[in-house]
Amino acid sequence: ATIQWFPGHMAKARREVSEKLKLIDVVIELVDARIPESSRNPILQDLIQDKKRIIVLNKADLADPKLSQAWVKAYLEQGFKALSIDAQHNKGLKGLEKAIKELMAPEFEKLAQKGLKPRPIRLMILGIPNVGKSTLINRFVGKNQAITGNKPGVTKAQRWLKIGKSFELLDTPGILWPKFEDEQVGINLALTGAIKDQLLHMDDLALTLLAILREHYLDSLCNYTKLSNDSLAKLTNVDLLLTLSQNWGFKDDYDAGSERLINDFRKGKVGRITLDRIPEQTFGDQAND
Ligand code: G4P
Repeated sequence: ATIQWFPGHMAKARREVSEKLKLIDVVIELVDARIPESSRNPILQDLIQDKKRIIVLNKADLADPKLSQAWVKAYLEQGFKALSIDAQHNKGLKGLEKAIKELMAPEFEKLAQKGLKPRPIRLMILGIPNVGKSTLINRFVGKNQAITGNKPGVTKAQRWLKIGKSFELLDTPGILWPKFEDEQVGINLALTGAIKDQLLHMDDLALTLLAILREHYLDSLCNYTKLSNDSLAKLTNVDLLLTLSQNWGFKDDYDAGSERLINDFRKGKVGRITLDRIPEQTFGDQAND
């Protein structure tokens, strides 16, 4: 589901999203809970301006629960409504519906004062590829109206999917490109599978992942590698990757070992891990360097 972005695609995606936005009451900005900041699109704020929005951290089942909570809190403090969900396993969707209703409450109050009933809230899901937009649409509308993913640049008639009596969801999500500029962001996107693997060397990625795990998730790393703290401490990351590759039967094939490690990480087999630290923690870490 990864897409390569060229300036033409980006302009078109931007146009399509801004066209759809005209119809929308509330934007669901979907991000990956393992990389909440890295998986945000750089121009989204620009595009939606003061349109109502909720930041939804998806794939919470794969992320570090403490950090998901901390990120939600950080977004709340920035004045956004925010929460985490696991669309894959249908967790948190009721909370999401409730939060969207809360966002619209002031408007509905005004309608009520004029003696008017609330109308269905019109929603669209917006985010970079692979954050789970199609999955969320499918879970939202239930099994009967299965919707498949859509590529940017493919225009078709808009359809509204009804979710109970309270919501109408645009059947195609808004797809925007990921951030490109920052190296660490690129690594985070690659590690979680949001961008094409070919853009970065698997062994570099694997070594970076091992370094992150060592620093922030040592217990998970011990469990996953079945090595003790002491044994781990004696190995450099290069040695560790070689050891793992050998244990998996890949002999000295680093690339095969790297791929296995990264795939295991993406599936959550290494543990529940969040790569984006909240800013305070990042500063704290740097101070210790
Ligand atoms: P998109 O429309 O935003 O591009 O994303 P999509 O729904 O296609 O989801 C991308 C992948 O993420 C899918 O895996 C999907 O099952 C998985 N996913 C979505 N939501 C969740 C979640 O809450 N938790 C977990 N663990 N996974 C989630 P896939 O079909 O295996 O696709 P891929 O691995 O080939 O990319």
